[in-house]
Amino acid sequence: MSLFSDPHAVARYAEGPPRLVPGFSALQRMTTLLLAERAPDDARVLVLGAGGGLELRTFAESRPNWQLDGVDPAAEMLKLAQTTLGPFASRVRLHQGYIDEAPQGPFDAATCLLTLHFVPLEERRRTVMEVRRRLKPAAPFVVAHLSFPQGETERALWLSRYVAFAVASGVEPAKADSARAALGTQLAILTPEQDEAILRDAGFSNISLFYAGFVFRGWVAYA
Ligand SMILES: C[S@@+](CC[C@H](N)C(=O)[O-])C[C@H]1O[C@@H](n2cnc3c(N)ncnc32)[C@H](O)[C@@H]1O
Repeated sequence: MSLFSDPHAVARYAEGPPRLVPGFSALQRMTTLLLAERAPDDARVLVLGAGGGLELRTFAESRPNWQLDGVDPAAEMLKLAQTTLGPFASRVRLHQGYIDEAPQGPFDAATCLLTLHFVPLEERRRTVMEVRRRLKPAAPFVVAHLSFPQGETERALWLSRYVAFAVASGVEPAKADSARAALGTQLAILTPEQDEAILRDAGFSNISLFYAGFVFRGWVAYA
C-alpha cells in the first residue's frame, strides 16, 4: 500500500511537510505571490498533486475569488483535502486521477508542489506538457520538489542533509533514515538542470529558480 493510500499515514500527513521541507509555509506563501503576480483576482487555478489540501487551503484563504481545481490520484489524500479545506471547499473542485483528469481550462495559473519527484521521467515530461496545454498564454506555473545533484558523492551528502534536517525538526532518527532509503530508491529524483530542461522542452519560458531548501527546489515558469 502506498503512503498516500494508507489511511493511518494519511491521517498524519499534515505533520510531514513542515518537518521535512525547509521553509514549507514560506514556500506556500511565495507560490501564492508568484501566481498572483500574473493571475487575475478571479483566476482559475489548476493544482496538480493537490492531495492533503494544504496549498489549496492557503490559496483559498488568501485569494477569496480564485476558483481552484485540485487533481490527485489518491482517494485518501483527496478525502483529507476536503477536510482540510473546511469552509473553503465550495470554491474547489477535486478530481481523482492524473493530469488527464484535469479540466481543459484554460487556466490562469497552475502549481505542482512536492509531487513531480513521484513521477517517472517520461511520464513527467508528458505531465508538464499537459499542464502547459491547459494554461493561458504567459500564465505562471509553479513547481517545487526534490531536485539535487545526482553524482554519487553529492547525492549521499544531500541525502544526509535531508535526514539531518528531519531529525532537527523532531522526526525520529530511525524514521528519517528509512525515509532516506525510500528517497534514494523509490523516487524519480533529477538534477536541477534536468528539471529545468523538462520545463523548457514542454514550452515554458522565463524559467526562474525562486526556492532552494536543502534537497528541494522550486521554479516559476511561464506558458
Ligand atoms: C507529498 S504529497 C504533496 C501534496 C501537496 N501538494 C502538498 O504540498 O502538501 C504528493 C501527492 O502527489 C500525488 N501524486 C503522485 N503521483 C502523481 C501524479 N502523477 N499526478 C498527480 N499527483 C500525483 C500523491 O497522491 C500525493 O497526494
